[in-house]
Amino acid sequence: MSQKLKLGIIYGGRSGEHEVSLMSARSVLSVIDTAKYDVIEIGISRQGKWFVGDDLWFKLKDEDLSNLTPAYFLPIPQNPGIYTVRNGEMSLLSPLDIVFPVMHGSFSEDGALQGLFELADIAYVGAGVLGSAVCLDKGLFKNVMLANHIPILPFHVFNRMELEKDITACLQTAEAIADYPLYTKPANLGSSVGISKCKDRTDLLKGLMEASRYDRRILVEKGLQNPREIEVSVLGNENPSASVPGEVIPKDIFYTYAEKYINDTAELVTKTDLSPEMVATIQGLAVKAYTATDCAGMARVDFLIDRETMQVYLSEINTIPGFTKISMFPKLWEASGLSYPALIETLIELALERKVQRDRTEREFRR
Ligand SMILES: Nc1ncnc2c1ncn2[C@@H]1O[C@H](COP(=O)(O)OP(=O)(O)O)[C@@H](O)[C@H]1O
Ligand SMILES: [Mg+2]
Repeated sequence: MSQKLKLGIIYGGRSGEHEVSLMSARSVLSVIDTAKYDVIEIGISRQGKWFVGDDLWFKLKDEDLSNLTPAYFLPIPQNPGIYTVRNGEMSLLSPLDIVFPVMHGSFSEDGALQGLFELADIAYVGAGVLGSAVCLDKGLFKNVMLANHIPILPFHVFNRMELEKDITACLQTAEAIADYPLYTKPANLGSSVGISKCKDRTDLLKGLMEASRYDRRILVEKGLQNPREIEVSVLGNENPSASVPGEVIPKDIFYTYAEKYINDTAELVTKTDLSPEMVATIQGLAVKAYTATDCAGMARVDFLIDRETMQVYLSEINTIPGFTKISMFPKLWEASGLSYPALIETLIELALERKVQRDRTEREFRR
């Protein structure tokens, strides 16, 4: 019997970032130490169905699911693992010791999947339910930043019903945040989907309508004109550390979906000209925000800097950042002296360490 840990790598998923997930997973799979781990690949289709099987990655990519085995991750704390149905009964395909969700956006980065892992009592890479959910909701996230005196741009959150009830009042509230440009965003999305830069009231109205297509909660935020976009990678559980900062230099009007995934025009650099004091400030804020939101394992913390005043604003935290070898999260660690394979190994170790901490919690109260 092998004593290797059984590691489930989950990819795909019911989100706009399905393809990004496949690219990230391919990179992760290429460096897992198979002398140490038995890797079980688990794919989730765009429709949300779970599968295992030979050539899973390629079949998921080609959307050819016909020869794959439908699989179910069952939250049975005594026996977590991946199951299938055989002769009308649930049958265990493989137990799992730890899972690595290499997926981005809704149903994976928002706490939903993490909830399933908690129910299964299994170790998993990345933030828990709370950290995931808070970091994905841009509105709630900003309130946590405010409470911790971390600088952010002024904002207001509307819900869809408010917009439908009295749009004039909402436009006035939004315009009271700051002068144009204002940014409108769905609160719980990523990849710049549904985000607009608004230069006047006409744009603002359009932006609010666009954002409300994707979420019940809509954020309006003061916009910076051509800000510097600085990103820091954070790694750790109770004692997180920050990488060197990197910079994204978009060529579009802002860092749009097309630039992130289609045109590839934005430049990602891991060497910035920021002063050592500025670097220390940014790293300190990144770690403070990470801790305040109960992140674990990893996150990429993004900042906007006003070019005129050099004021730094924390923009958002991504709890499952892009993971291809050329993505910012691993690139920043590489620039900080941690190679891609060592980074993946560290993430697995952090997940196991967190499980040990979780297991210390008493679940029953008996008098
Ligand atoms: N307040 C702002 N001022 C200037 N640019 C912004 C502002 N908010 C967002 N942007 C631009 O939009 C991009 C996406 O916004 P962001 O809040 O990071 O959402 P996402 O979660 O989709 O990445 C940013 O990378 C930046 O280019
Ligand atoms: Mg962003």
